[in-house]
Amino acid sequence: MARKTIIAGNWKMNLLPADGEELVAELNEQVEIKENLEVVICPQMALVPLALDWIYDSVIQLGAQNCAEKLSGAFTGETSPELLKVLGCRYCLVGHSERRSLYGETDELVGRKTQALLNMGITPIVCVGESLAQRESGDHFTTIDTQISVVFSQLDQTAWTRLVFAYEPIWAIGTGKTATPGQAVEIHQHIRNKIKEIAGHVVANATSILYGGSANAANAADLLGESEIDGLLVGGASLKAKDFSQIIASF
Ligand code: PGA
Repeated sequence: MARKTIIAGNWKMNLLPADGEELVAELNEQVEIKENLEVVICPQMALVPLALDWIYDSVIQLGAQNCAEKLSGAFTGETSPELLKVLGCRYCLVGHSERRSLYGETDELVGRKTQALLNMGITPIVCVGESLAQRESGDHFTTIDTQISVVFSQLDQTAWTRLVFAYEPIWAIGTGKTATPGQAVEIHQHIRNKIKEIAGHVVANATSILYGGSANAANAADLLGESEIDGLLVGGASLKAKDFSQIIASF
């Protein structure tokens, strides 16, 4: 079975309700249904319940940017995966590099959040990727290996087939410096081999691996043209309807 292609917009901490509503209204007009393609928007948390209305009757799916590892309790400021489920989120980003670097999220925590999402039937998009220093010192493969194996160490085996990964080199995020399709493919193959080593070839072949980091309307077709790249996680360019719909149209 062909792997699903996912094009997800990570809005980060951007857009007020009126802007989000207008953006989604334009996307609803411009985005066409295609077989095997999922289009997802991930607004900041307080916009999620509003966005559920905006995507009513649309091909666009809803995702969140982060969640707690627990379902309820005394965790001030956190968001329960159970609430995300009730609010209609099908997807949730986990371990985005901004969460790791700015809020101290560890690989173990990312793994526990991933399992919590899987328990709620939400597809986690697990973000991995190396810093510029790690790439320059040749440590990018081992960095990513650790990120992946620690996540798997926190999961029930039954959940293995429901994971999505996003390779996001930190040096490419918000910098306008995209990884070349060749650089992305090299890492995607490495990630798939690592998954194969841990979980076997059936899981490895079924797992969608997205690329993220300055993906835009100009480079999307080249990236999506690679059979190893199963979609895109788009930050800046997902905030403009024209750009995001062009990215989607290039699949
Ligand atoms: P960018 O962000 O497309 O603006 O580089 C991607 C991301 O951080 O998910």
